[in-house]
Amino acid sequence: MKTQLRSSRVVIIGTGAVGSTTAYTLLLRERVSELVLIDANKDKALGEALDMNHGLPFTGGVKLWAGDYSDCADADIIVIAAGASQRPGETRIDLLKRNAGIFDSIIQNIVKYNDHGIILVATNPVDILTYVSLKKSGFPSNRVIGSGTLLDSARFRYLIGQNKGINPRSIHAHIVGEHGDSELPLWSLANVAGIGLEFSDQDREDIFDSTKNAAYEIINAKGATSYAIALALDRIIVSILQDEGSVLNVSTLLNDYNGVSDVYLGVPSIVDRTGVRQVLDLELSDQELIQFQNSANKLKSEIANLEL
Ligand code: 2OP
Repeated sequence: MKTQLRSSRVVIIGTGAVGSTTAYTLLLRERVSELVLIDANKDKALGEALDMNHGLPFTGGVKLWAGDYSDCADADIIVIAAGASQRPGETRIDLLKRNAGIFDSIIQNIVKYNDHGIILVATNPVDILTYVSLKKSGFPSNRVIGSGTLLDSARFRYLIGQNKGINPRSIHAHIVGEHGDSELPLWSLANVAGIGLEFSDQDREDIFDSTKNAAYEIINAKGATSYAIALALDRIIVSILQDEGSVLNVSTLLNDYNGVSDVYLGVPSIVDRTGVRQVLDLELSDQELIQFQNSANKLKSEIANLEL
């Protein structure tokens, strides 16, 4: 599937498993005309860029190079995938101290060169670090987005599809809240062609457990997750650059939303060339509302300990 876009530049900061797989995904799908890789370890960015450039005779005309922050000047989207990732047994929140520190200089460097682009955060804990990016950049909140629960919702849709024997693309279902241990499934919204889906209690428990614990399982097995998050980032990037207005469960700033304010959480949002154009209202059951607010409170108490 190819969506050639008019002149567009995406900068990816951090060329670990997520950043480099995202670059490769954008390259294979010929999503952008210019792709810039930045890493604190310049050799790593250079090596990834060389390796990908050597594949260009087999793909298309993407211009790709290992760059530096001045390349952010013409960027439409700056993806942040830099920082430590979870080791087996660690939660995403466990990464906060290590990763919040590096965001200071990353955001300062971005805003030195760019005042018009969209910052798309993938580093964990993604909701909190997207909030940190908002505060440190001074950008309007529609232009500071986190990957949120888009990946979790994809895992949820895949598992529901497996359970029902239906292609996951035809399953509509949402995980909202933290991209992490306090996320919640919205079973009442799960549908195929607008028709609600029935599940046994055991199936619900199994599907949600596998959704929530997917990253732990993958990290235990192979050390990191990369492919599905790269495809989720590709989806967000295309929705922005193509001005699609797709509804995606990205992490966005919530204000007076189901009793939640001043925190980033994953919720269904319309994403277009302006970034997050609109957050969709969700009707939550009493129990879902409590879980959603608990998810927000958990992140807010972590944010309260940060210097912003
Ligand atoms: C994931 O869910 C680790 O947050 C990353 O794959």
